[in-house]
Amino acid sequence: MDVIIRENYGQMSRYAAEIIAGYIRTKPNCVLGLATGRTPVGTYKELIRMHREEGLDFSEVRTFNLDEYLGLGMNLDKPYDLDQSYARFMHEELFKHINIKKENIHIPDGLAKEPKKYCAYYEEEIRKAGGIDLQLLGIGGDGHWGFNEPGSSLGSRTRVVALNEQTLNDNYNAFFKKAGFKRSEMPCFAITMGIGTILEARNIMMLASGGGKADIVAKCLEGPITAQVTSTAIHLHGGDVTVVLDEAAASKLIRYEHYKQVERLKSQYGL
Ligand code: PGA
Repeated sequence: MDVIIRENYGQMSRYAAEIIAGYIRTKPNCVLGLATGRTPVGTYKELIRMHREEGLDFSEVRTFNLDEYLGLGMNLDKPYDLDQSYARFMHEELFKHINIKKENIHIPDGLAKEPKKYCAYYEEEIRKAGGIDLQLLGIGGDGHWGFNEPGSSLGSRTRVVALNEQTLNDNYNAFFKKAGFKRSEMPCFAITMGIGTILEARNIMMLASGGGKADIVAKCLEGPITAQVTSTAIHLHGGDVTVVLDEAAASKLIRYEHYKQVERLKSQYGL
């Protein structure tokens, strides 16, 4: 596992975007797992810049998003009807600015008539695409990946979940409040890829930014593996695992100096 620490959010975002761009240049039809939230917005902005200024080509790229609120869904023709959906978030923050094909975008459908069956279908779609090459991840205040709240099985698959109080509060404050929603109007169920699904991605990259994430990042990277902090499953992944943090998010890591030293040595020896 590589732990990369950058001075600030902008540098963290540029580093992450460069990794993603590397996948796209090497394999133009690569399958990217994408995430929503405040954290990846800077990475998406940088990818958009690369598309505009450097011709980064998304025309063959395929994407699968981690999660979606239940009751809100994917309709990229009418994204404004679905104000707080993750489908709209992705459309606004990334998809409408790049040359990705609509049929190559996959986001769990929060309006699915039979959500349970739909979850199995979503898993099948990932399999049919040949699996995910690189899964981008944030980390929730409660340590979640996607909406895999504390107590989710580390082997879990795509399924319907109930959101816990901390996630509801975090997402209300970050998104719904600004849009004029009452706290009681928050959707409290979601469809999420499971931890087992995420672990099947060939490689993963987790981002975290800001002092508010410092404690949970330390628990995730340096605490015991536990279903109470589902992102601790990071230690069970066998592919390339990259964690990109800004200084504030890295500030509670016990082995901070070690991570810096490893990065210096790897760059010195070209590893
Ligand atoms: P955030 O959310 O990027 O808005 O902090 C991360 C997450 O919940 O995974």
